[in-house]
Amino acid sequence: MAFLPVEQAPARINRSELAVPGSNSRFLEKAAQSDADVVFLDLEDAVAPDDKDRARKLVIEAINDLDWGRKTVSVRINATDTHYMYRDVVDLMENAGERLDLIMLPKVDVAEDVYALDMLCTQIETAKNRKKRVGFELIIETARGLMNIDAIAGASKRNESLHFGVADFAASMKMRTTQIGGPHPDYVVLSNADDNGNRDTYWGDMWHYAIVRIVVAARSHGLRPIDGPFGDFSDPDGYRAQANRAGVLGCEGKWAIHPSQVALGNELFSPSEVEVTKAKRILEAMEVAQKEGRGAVALDGKLIDLASIRQAEVLIATVEKLKAL
Ligand code: GLV
Ligand code: MG
Repeated sequence: MAFLPVEQAPARINRSELAVPGSNSRFLEKAAQSDADVVFLDLEDAVAPDDKDRARKLVIEAINDLDWGRKTVSVRINATDTHYMYRDVVDLMENAGERLDLIMLPKVDVAEDVYALDMLCTQIETAKNRKKRVGFELIIETARGLMNIDAIAGASKRNESLHFGVADFAASMKMRTTQIGGPHPDYVVLSNADDNGNRDTYWGDMWHYAIVRIVVAARSHGLRPIDGPFGDFSDPDGYRAQANRAGVLGCEGKWAIHPSQVALGNELFSPSEVEVTKAKRILEAMEVAQKEGRGAVALDGKLIDLASIRQAEVLIATVEKLKAL
């Protein structure tokens, strides 16, 4: 471990992140009442080009007029390759009140995309004497974005989280799929035949590389890695599987593209009783071991050592963060 520690982004609970179309005032009102940890009011892909101006106004009104409770409030603006982006930033930063916590930038390709947004925000915050510095959520959803992810992750002190935009990523990569996240029946491995000629089909996770890359970049820059959308909102089991595998790999939360996915995200990214009990037992056993001058011991027939303390502490730290809710 290096002498200088990784500087951590401001701590936020980010288990569920609800996407809300900025053009629909009824959805905006419902989002304010939801149990989502973070809501992002969308000015990008959920809003048709002809509706961008109206959506921008609705989003600003919603931020200023609705009671967002304990939620983190974010707005997904349009990408830097559109002519909507500057207007999104200027109108939002000039007119939305201090309840605005984060701006989400989609399709981040290069670190300069983040620099441009940072520059605009800094100028407007100074000009308008805004008290709260807005933070950034960055969506990694292009081949180029994934290539440049380290520079992107380190491009601004405002960066808080990296998100996996699975649908745009698939499009950018020209992957053979039209679904939003989830497994693909053609992404499988067929085992060799056994003595009776039987073969097994094992489904693979076609998103594994991208998610791991995002987690590595996020963690090495002190940011939160967040898994993106799962489009089939009538398949809670599918959502669970996707969320769990992201959580196992280190993600702190997942998008909800439908209100029914919020409770799932909150549940699946909160450590379970079983996990917490196990983590506490590891810490207790290691405390005893250390008093006896031992660095490693057996617990339930398995080796635990000083790294086990660090693993257990990560879990307990998450529990403590959630207790503060
Ligand atoms: C999200 O923006 C996605 O493209 O999946
Ligand atoms: Mg996208």
